[in-house]
Amino acid sequence: MSNKAYITTPIYYVNDVPHIGHAYTTIIADTMARYYRLIGRETFFLTGTDEHGQKIEEAAKSRGKTPQGYADEISGKFKALWDEFDISYDKFIRTTDAYHKEGVQYAFSVMFDKGDIYKGEYEGHYCVSCETFFTDTQLVDEGGCPDCGKPTRLVKEESYFFKLSKYQEPLLKWYNDDEKCVLPKGKKNEVISFVKQGLRDLSITRTSFDWGVKLPASMNDNKHVMYVWLDALLNYITALGYGKENENMHFWPATIQLVGKDILRFHAIYWPAFLMSLGLPLPQHVGAHGWWTRNGEKMSKSKGNVVNPKEVADAYGLENFRYFLLREVPFGQDGDFSQKALMDRINSDLGNELGNLLNRIIGMSGKYSNGVVDSKDVLKFYATELSNVNDILKNVETTLLELQTNRYLEDLWKALTIANQSITLHEPWVKMKEGKEEEAFALVALVSNILARVTLLLHPVMPKTTAKIAHALGFEITTASYEKLIVARTLLDTFTIEKVPPLFPRIEEELMAQPSLPSPEPVVIKTSKKESKIESIITIDQFFETSLKVGTIKEAEVVEGSDRLLKLQIDLGEEHTRQIIAGIREFYTPKELVNTQVCVVANLKPATIKGLLSQGMLLAAKDKEGMSLIRPEHPRKSGASIG
Ligand code: ME8
Ligand code: MG
Repeated sequence: MSNKAYITTPIYYVNDVPHIGHAYTTIIADTMARYYRLIGRETFFLTGTDEHGQKIEEAAKSRGKTPQGYADEISGKFKALWDEFDISYDKFIRTTDAYHKEGVQYAFSVMFDKGDIYKGEYEGHYCVSCETFFTDTQLVDEGGCPDCGKPTRLVKEESYFFKLSKYQEPLLKWYNDDEKCVLPKGKKNEVISFVKQGLRDLSITRTSFDWGVKLPASMNDNKHVMYVWLDALLNYITALGYGKENENMHFWPATIQLVGKDILRFHAIYWPAFLMSLGLPLPQHVGAHGWWTRNGEKMSKSKGNVVNPKEVADAYGLENFRYFLLREVPFGQDGDFSQKALMDRINSDLGNELGNLLNRIIGMSGKYSNGVVDSKDVLKFYATELSNVNDILKNVETTLLELQTNRYLEDLWKALTIANQSITLHEPWVKMKEGKEEEAFALVALVSNILARVTLLLHPVMPKTTAKIAHALGFEITTASYEKLIVARTLLDTFTIEKVPPLFPRIEEELMAQPSLPSPEPVVIKTSKKESKIESIITIDQFFETSLKVGTIKEAEVVEGSDRLLKLQIDLGEEHTRQIIAGIREFYTPKELVNTQVCVVANLKPATIKGLLSQGMLLAAKDKEGMSLIRPEHPRKSGASIG
């Protein structure tokens, strides 16, 4: 087994501030990197931002910013969040970094020299939001993108192509020979059937905009910039110094490349094909997880339904949040975010099972033996319990390496259950009364040893919490203790317990009023005075940045001290109703509004009006005579999207 590990996350687009979907991928990757460091592998963990392409160029323009300025700003937000979240990355790559651009140009020339790139003309459809080309037959609903549903654009331009078709058979061979190359297996089968339908050559340059990496000078062709996915995928090797002095190329091939299922096709088809063209080995595992949703819809900024990860971590604790993300959904499947599920995990798994076990050890050892715990008689009295725990822990690491984080944690908790049940079953307090002190002491030592092993294996998921537990149990979390307690299954040395305050105080009620959106950047549409009569033109994508929804007014009351404002509670089909403060009192009475429907701008930055939180805006038509609300012609479900 190699003594190195290389873990990557996708590089995230800078059109979007980070939400819990991005945090999820990054936290799984961080967990894997921490695991590899724990077991003693030399580890390199890469994350970063994807900053070129039409989507970023247009997002910047709509905000009146330069692409570079805008990328700097949002890339900084990703980096700041990861730093705040203690993400243990070794490098943060930006695709606008000079070394990356040079590496991409170098790779292009290697592929060209290999005869894998040729010039032609591309004609087809392009989805800017997904930065993906589609053929006529792939489109849905009259020109819609099959992946995200947004309208596509017809593109006809000169383009360089990569001979993807040439790699169809080698790819199929890879999937066939390397059982775990794509995880989970169900996702791998989807990839295989996609490839079996036949691969067309891939357009890898564009001429209709500028914001991208230029072709290498040797190509002598200034019209083209590289297709953003070619540029982006290569980050995984340019970050290691590909094409330079190869300072870190010894980390290649990657051990685990984590992605969301939305971009698996790029990572399990294009990327290995590019690598084969470059003559480089293929990654060991590409792992694709499912989506976090709100009320069943994929979380994404354009839908205005995202949860701000920092807000969750601040309210519930970063490590509790990490545990929840990894435990709640099976890897590969979608999961709906709810505060209730998060609270349940904290109160029951963490509080009742893990925290309580530590408290019981502190309590029992304090009472029976002045806090001293000695493992010498564990095998004599509790060999069965110990061997049951060994059986459970025997395969957990394989489960983790297959990225089944939920099953991994479930198994660790099975070991905790054995510990908690042994206490109930053997009643050490009775043994103390009966004068069987040795047995009682050994029981405390048994459960301490189980807790110690679980603590080590839980460390990659909850680094700081487990360090505290380890400290209480008289050991440090290091590769040496991993080897001793997990690999060699040695028991703990004699130690005196350190008391720690309860690690998981019970949470009685939801701690976030309404998970709010990470504050979106205001969209500035520049209109000069002269032009003010002329409507400024926006793209359809700009229009879709506004999330419009049907809402049902549940409650309405006047705002004291204002003759203009009403306070409304509106059902948008979300977990909670939203409060919106609307200036419509002159035209509507509270009573006539209740149980009627309105159109709501759902992804507006929350504001405070007269000291009251307002989480959205109603659409209304105004003229000199008055105002009338815009309403659906027939009743629709609360939360139905408009557009
Ligand atoms: O696709 N649930 O960047 P991106 C779970 N730049 N994960 C989610 C998620 C959700 N609702 N939403 C996003 C790109 N993610 C390209 C990648 S890599 C060479 C280039 C996570 O900003 C998930 O990991 O759209 C998904 O694959 C990634 O963010 C997409 O990020
Ligand atoms: Mg995306």
